[in-house]
Order: sequence, then C-alpha cells, then structure tokens
Amino acid sequence: MQGSKKKRIGILTGGGDCPGLNATIRAIAKTAILNYDMEVIGIKDGFLGLIENRFLNVSYGDVSGILTLGGTFLGASNKANPYRHPDFKGRFKDVSGTAVENYCAMELAGLVCIGGDGTLNIAYKLSKRGVKLVGVPKTIDCDLRQTDATIGFDSALVTATQAIDKLHTTAQSHHRVMVIEVMGRYAGWLALYSGLAGGGDIILLPEIPYDIKKVCEVVLKRNQRGKRFSIVVVSEGARPKAGKMVVKKIVKDSTDPVRLGGIGDKIADGIEKITRLETRVTVLGHLQRGGEPTPFDRILATRFGVAGCEMVAKGDFGKVVTLKAGNIRAVDLAKVVGDIRRVRLKDPVIKAAMAVGTSFGV
Ligand code: F6P
Repeated sequence: MQGSKKKRIGILTGGGDCPGLNATIRAIAKTAILNYDMEVIGIKDGFLGLIENRFLNVSYGDVSGILTLGGTFLGASNKANPYRHPDFKGRFKDVSGTAVENYCAMELAGLVCIGGDGTLNIAYKLSKRGVKLVGVPKTIDCDLRQTDATIGFDSALVTATQAIDKLHTTAQSHHRVMVIEVMGRYAGWLALYSGLAGGGDIILLPEIPYDIKKVCEVVLKRNQRGKRFSIVVVSEGARPKAGKMVVKKIVKDSTDPVRLGGIGDKIADGIEKITRLETRVTVLGHLQRGGEPTPFDRILATRFGVAGCEMVAKGDFGKVVTLKAGNIRAVDLAKVVGDIRRVRLKDPVIKAAMAVGTSFGV
C-alpha cells in the first residue's frame, strides 16, 4: 500500500455483532478524516480479514448515513482467531505471523479493534507483538472489566424489555407462567436489567444459582394472592444449585466454543411439573443483537469512536477506551482481559430488585 503520504487508521469489528457498531466505525472514520486528515482502512470480517488480507478504503461517504444502522458494514466474525485458525483440513494453526505481516503491509498509524472479550484478548496478544492498536468495547453482555458500559448493551436491553412487556399481556390473559431466556453468556447483566425494567417476578442469573423449589414457591404464592400469571426472566448462563449451565452446542473453531441455550426449557419443565401451572418459554436469541442502536448506544459509540481515533493519533496504544462514572478513560488492555465483569450480589440493582419483591430463585 504505497503512494499516499497521509497517515492511515485501520478499523475492525470482531466477535458477535450488535447495534452501534456502524455508529462506532462512523465516529472513528469521521474523526480521522475531518480532524486528522487520515485515510481510513476497514478490515473485513474482523480478524479473518487481517489473516486473509481483505480490507477496503473507507471514504467519508461510506460512513455518512450509517449512524442508525444495526450490524457492521465491515462484517464480523466471532470465530476468527489468528492464534487458532483452521487449515483446509480443519486442523488449527497459529497464523498470527501472517496477521502481523498483513498489518505491517497496510502501513497503519494504528488499528482500532472494536470487540468484546474474545476480540480484546486477541488484540492484547497482538499488541504484545508490536501491533499498534486500541480497543473499543462492544458487547450486549456488558461483561468487560473496567468499563461501566459497552456498545450494544442498551439496545439489547430495550429489545429484551419490550419482549417482556409483550409477554406480560399474554401471560395475564391466559393465566400462564412465561419463561423468557435472554443472552448474556456467563454474566447476568442483560437478564438483571431487562428483568427489572420489564417487571419480572423472578430473575435467574449465572451468578446466583437457583433452587427450582423456591422459584415454584414464588409462582404459587402469587397465584394464591390472585396474581394468576408469573414472568420468569432467565439468563442463558443461569444454572441450578449444584447443577451445570445448559450448553446448546460446541462451535469448535470459535474463540469461545461454548454456545449456551436451553435453560429456559429446563426451568419451564420444572415449574410445570411442580406447580401444574401452564408454562411457556420464549427464547429471544439473536433478536437481541439486531435492530437499530438506541440513542444511548449512538452517543456511547460516538464518544468511544472519537476517543479511539484520538488515541491512535496520539500514539496511545495497547489500551482500551472505557467509560467510568460518565467519563472516558484509556485503560491498559492487560487490566481488561483475562476475566469478565460479573454481577455481584451486593450490586445496587440487585438490592433494588429485592426491595420491590423480585425473587432470584433462592
Ligand atoms: O457475546 C454475545 C453473544 O450474543 C452472547 O450473549 C451469546 O451467548 C453469544 O454471543 C451467541 O453467539 P453466536 O452468535 O455465535 O450464536
């Protein structure tokens, strides 16, 4: 990529998609073009594009009008990992050398990696190999350490809350128990927040193993009080006391091969068996990752994207853009990766939910 004297910034979106990715790309690209006279290179399909050397020049026109669009026009992959890439026979190989070579050939001033824990873990390893990069946190799971917010969470929260609202009316009409399974992987943020916002009677989280008998007690007590329906919001990673999470499938070539799913059915079966009340299950699935970003996510994406671009311009690499108490801070990648942010029992949101009588199945 020779010929141009302008500085060049690279962008990739790794991991699962979510609303707000396009808004983030737009913010990085517009800041780079308008404030730093940089060229913008969009790497296609996350780290897969870096491995396969697939990228495109992103113009101002390309990012104009995409603030409200869900998904990512660059494409994403939550399987691509330069440290574990399948060859044509399906054997995994470390092709990080190729990814670094391709990065060098792009002659970037810096690369902005927009992603969740999988993407940022890979980014951390690459940064230790000399790749000049900055992380921008996105995930509907909101499980990244050191940041109060991640792009996509608020939009998924709105989708899940609206679904719970809709299920409320049909639960009431039919006097049924409605179990709603939401995403979030190993952290219960999405279930906790949507459960509270949607007025869930019982919220089950990975962090608080439940007792099905306690869940049924709550449902039966409500019935005795004349509330002939109940709403149970369950995180896909929830598990019974002394039990395991329900794994739906293993995606071998993924950064995190475990795909959760099915706990909603297990809980519904248990409730129906013990209470003899008619119970239905709704699994929200990938609906939670779709649609347009909320105003909160558009603003967060813009602030994170602008900050990410400014860090590249200043040469502040190996860090992640985070939000703490409303302020943007750059935090070392090492402090963000390695573990996830889980719901703590003393979280004020848990306390508030308990105060209004919400059960956590214990
Ligand atoms: O990390 C985001 C997320 O949507 C999780 O909440 C969910 O467990 C997982 O990704 C689903 O992954 P996939 O898109 O591979 O089914």
